[in-house]
Amino acid sequence: MIVHSSVWPSHSPARVSIIGAGKVGSTLAQRIVEKNIADVVLLDVVPGLAEGMALDLMQARGIERCVRASVPEAYRFIFGTNNYADTADSNVVVITAGSPRKPGMSRDDLLQVNATIVVEAAKKAIAHSPEAILLVVTNPLDVMTYLAWQASGLPPQRIVGMAGGLDSARFQAFIAMELGVPTVDVSAMVLGSHGDLMVPLPRYCTVSGIPIAELMDNATIERLVERTRNAGAEIVQLLQTGGAYFTPAATTCLMVESILFNQSRLMPVSAYLQGEYGLKDIFIGVPCRLGSIGVESVLELNLTETERAALHFSAESVLKNIHRANEMLGVKLGNN
Ligand code: LAC
Repeated sequence: MIVHSSVWPSHSPARVSIIGAGKVGSTLAQRIVEKNIADVVLLDVVPGLAEGMALDLMQARGIERCVRASVPEAYRFIFGTNNYADTADSNVVVITAGSPRKPGMSRDDLLQVNATIVVEAAKKAIAHSPEAILLVVTNPLDVMTYLAWQASGLPPQRIVGMAGGLDSARFQAFIAMELGVPTVDVSAMVLGSHGDLMVPLPRYCTVSGIPIAELMDNATIERLVERTRNAGAEIVQLLQTGGAYFTPAATTCLMVESILFNQSRLMPVSAYLQGEYGLKDIFIGVPCRLGSIGVESVLELNLTETERAALHFSAESVLKNIHRANEMLGVKLGNN
């Protein structure tokens, strides 16, 4: 059922709803608004939070020299709410709601607290935007993406999880810092779960097309791989009050753009596998083409035995947590 909101005119441009106005959600809203990519509905269960942030972002528009017109009263390109009806007819729904980690916690420690939040968000958001692509950001990422898929009842290619791009961006940054080259010249690839068992792939990392193995020794590569695996925790430890949000928001924004503008960008995302890489009925990070239909295709890389084993090891832990979450939620596993 589509519930039409009185807030938006029917001719409004692309709309992105962000569920959860925490650090990642609000930073993502800021990026989308400042880049003029789409109208944004920011939703949070905490009364006033999303509305306050939306007003704040709205008031920066003059300073940001944004030229998109605003129709008086009814039409706002950034709108804060705690009512799902206001998210109606979104092209993309991003779920960032849930708790971030505290120092010493793994992402999996958030399973219990975030599972019910994500399931409820997915159900309510998709009830109002049945045509949307659902983009999940909440941790533990791959499990939450699976639960959102189950709860939404959407075809799996319409659900995608953010994280491979984030982990790859971190690996890219560490390689660039090590070699003293511009970050944009580095291309990196990280597969697997967004967790301690992620699978950075040095074989697929290059600097302006040059494999990194020609530019640094194995011990250095291994050190950067380890730092990438711990990059989220390193920031949690430093901040003490939550996790990273600038790069998670930037990565999510990139994915939103690829979907809205049908760019078919190739990037690692958490996607539903149906036999690819020898894995089935799981969401996990693999290279995909991302366009207006969601995941257009999954690219199967020619992994070595060691890389494939690492991916499968990482998948086992995701599957175990999917079962745990489903037991907890009292839902029967599987949606197809
Ligand atoms: C991180 C969180 C977003 O890796 O999982 O920083």
